[in-house]
Amino acid sequence: MSMTETTAECWISVARKSEVEPGAILGLKVGDRDIAVYNVDGIIYASNNVCTHAHAYLSDGWLEGDVLECPLHGGRFEAKTGRGMGAPIICDLKLYAVRVEGDDIQINLS
Ligand code: FES
Repeated sequence: MSMTETTAECWISVARKSEVEPGAILGLKVGDRDIAVYNVDGIIYASNNVCTHAHAYLSDGWLEGDVLECPLHGGRFEAKTGRGMGAPIICDLKLYAVRVEGDDIQINLS
């Protein structure tokens, strides 16, 4: 099943795709959640923005190819899956389903 297939009708518009160029990470507040939206080679992904190791925003870090790197201790995650790539990261990053309608990036928080 692709990440865009879901039966829940809980899509929330969070940003415009034109705001998130390839290689860019946008930090957003959606309700009380901190969300990172980023662009890997033209495909938009969304994850929790707070690192799973300690409190740092991944949107202050770097997206190198398909690797997200935390600015605080250099922890790395696979951007497309959220999988932690080794010390100091021991917990994977939660990703959210994303769909793009025209220029509108929508995420499903359910
Ligand atoms: Fe992200 Fe430590 S807070 S690696």
